[in-house]
Amino acid sequence: MPRDIRTLFDLKDQVAVITGGGGLLGEMHAEAIAEAGGLPVLLDLRGERVKNVAKILAQRYQIDTLGLEADITSKHAVIGVAKEVLDRFGRIDILINNAANDPKVQPGGEVEWSRFESFSPEQWQQDVSVGLTGAFYCCQVMGSEMARRNSGVIINIASDLGLIAPDQRLYRKPGVPDDSQPVKPVTYSVVKHGIIGLTRYLATYWAERNVRVNALAPGGVRTDQPEEFIRRLSSLIPMGRMASKDEYKAAIVFLASEASSYMTGATLVIDGGRTCW
Ligand SMILES: NC(=O)c1ccc[n+]([C@@H]2O[C@H](COP(=O)([O-])OP(=O)(O)OC[C@H]3O[C@@H](n4cnc5c(N)ncnc54)[C@H](O)[C@@H]3O)[C@@H](O)[C@H]2O)c1
Repeated sequence: MPRDIRTLFDLKDQVAVITGGGGLLGEMHAEAIAEAGGLPVLLDLRGERVKNVAKILAQRYQIDTLGLEADITSKHAVIGVAKEVLDRFGRIDILINNAANDPKVQPGGEVEWSRFESFSPEQWQQDVSVGLTGAFYCCQVMGSEMARRNSGVIINIASDLGLIAPDQRLYRKPGVPDDSQPVKPVTYSVVKHGIIGLTRYLATYWAERNVRVNALAPGGVRTDQPEEFIRRLSSLIPMGRMASKDEYKAAIVFLASEASSYMTGATLVIDGGRTCW
């Protein structure tokens, strides 16, 4: 008897750790998990913020949640929060590696530091630490726990810029010499391509341990960007617009649940068609 669709998407009582849970999309991922019946655990440098979001979700969905202050660039800190989650819930079913530095490079922003020729090793280290090393530690600590139990799901948040190069024309400022124009930093491309590599590596490494590992590659979310930036970016997107922040929630539930039971090592691209062009 084939399982019905509602059962396949059900996350009832599944414990989901979300890094960067205090950010724009982290909060949406947590809400998606909660709406599907799961128990979101939000990790973030901003402890007060995630505690607050966790409390709101607990009340709204009548579920158990947790918000924990954590710096995922510290393995010691990751081990500490994993222990807290295991003490409280007894297991970790889902890990969403979502935290990353994503400097908003828009015309008008003071981001000349971002140019490749003068990009600082300190900034390189910092961006790689959050986006890649942090995900590596979380997989090592929490993914290994899943592998021991022979059950789990990891979702790595990549980007359309994990598949294509940034179009630096988007960020151009009028009147600024070419060699001083702001650009999307190299680390963003490296981190987002790297997280897809981590996804494929672990998908095969843990395939027999029943830990599925997939990436989600979202396109840009419309927030309070300048109109000119939105216009330029939208012209590169076949659907002609940026995403709303809630347009990835269904994909998170799909990837986290049995609905995607035959999927591992894949990158789910949701970008309004941008990477087709
Ligand atoms: N927003 C977009 O348009 C967009 C598009 C494509 C991909 N993404 C990706 O989605 C993810 C979330 O993006 P967002 O827009 O919500 O970002 P955001 O900046 O709003 O949130 C990131 C969160 O990570 C936290 N964080 C940073 N360093 C940390 C650390 N060391 N330990 C723990 N937490 C840390 C921050 O405090 C912040 O709350 C990122 O990986 C981003 O690259 C975003």
